Amino acid sequence: MKAITYTTFGGPEVLNLTEVEEPHAGPGQVRLKVVAAAVNPLDHKIRNGWMPPEMTPPFPVVPGLEAAGVVDEVGEGVTGVSVGDEVLGWASGAYAEHAVATDFAPKPAGLDWDVAAALPVAVETSVRVLDLLKVEAGDTVLLHGASGVVGAVAVQLAVARGATVIGTASPRNHDYVRSLGATPVAHGDGLADRVRAAAPNGVDAVFDVAGAGDLPLSIELRGGTDRIITIADPAAAGLGVTFSGGGGPFGARLAEYARQAADGELTVRIAKSLPLADAAEGQDLVATGHADGKVVLRP
Ligand SMILES: NC(=O)c1ccc[n+]([C@@H]2O[C@H](COP(=O)([O-])OP(=O)(O)OC[C@H]3O[C@@H](n4cnc5c(N)ncnc54)[C@H](OP(=O)(O)O)[C@@H]3O)[C@@H](O)[C@H]2O)c1
Repeated sequence: MKAITYTTFGGPEVLNLTEVEEPHAGPGQVRLKVVAAAVNPLDHKIRNGWMPPEMTPPFPVVPGLEAAGVVDEVGEGVTGVSVGDEVLGWASGAYAEHAVATDFAPKPAGLDWDVAAALPVAVETSVRVLDLLKVEAGDTVLLHGASGVVGAVAVQLAVARGATVIGTASPRNHDYVRSLGATPVAHGDGLADRVRAAAPNGVDAVFDVAGAGDLPLSIELRGGTDRIITIADPAAAGLGVTFSGGGGPFGARLAEYARQAADGELTVRIAKSLPLADAAEGQDLVATGHADGKVVLRP
């Protein structure tokens, strides 16, 4: 089958469209005929060699961790899913014609394939962090990176809980952030004052999706490190802030969010849908930090 692979760490030039052995569904797994594979920032972080060895698969690496596709093999012990079913979920080596998945949910018939591929990581991360922050009705939440893929989903889920959300984004994205139900503020110099103006009674919780160095001002705004979580700032430990990474199985809960997306209650922007061969272009766009939506690869 065709897959994007790399055999050394480096820039986007290490990515190649190659012919590799097909994976097969082992016990507890299904194999997908991938229809859409999403590009995550983690993919280029691993490719650059920035992640610890335990988070880096062995060479040759087939990147990608989430996809939507059609089940074409069902492994031993897997029940409730059949060959031909359309699913979305976590699929290792998703930048390929076939990938195996252990944690997945049915794809509603009306859900766009690109949006389906974009949901698992963004939804699981958002729910995990909003739960850890104990966000509930009446809270005012400061969300750094509200215009990004994870941030936009987190805004919608926080607003659905009854929270007021102040969301940071570049000015070109302010109408978008507003459309999600948050009050947009520009990131960059003077952010703390803009947040104080938007939330004169203070913020009850901070969700840092952007990881762009705004933890110190978040601590200042909160008056401490309580109810601040980052998913992207490596400075967290040194500042006494919680870093949340990786979650447990989520497929059973993902089904409900997939339904909401199919019904238009939960939206994800798609920045670009590219052929698999253009994976380097896709990762480059995501690495800018300003893709304005999910980049998706179509094998
Ligand atoms: N730990 C975990 O479990 C986990 C899970 C998923 C993702 N992540 C990480 O979360 C981060 C975001 O992922 P994503 O998929 O949402 O990325 P994304 O779609 O590229 O979003 C990036 C966001 O960061 C904002 N941003 C960019 N530069 C900024 C700056 N200098 N100051 C403030 N905000 C800035 C962007 O806003 P504008 O474009 O409007 O400027 C946008 O809202 C990545 O680092 C990813 O690796 C971690």
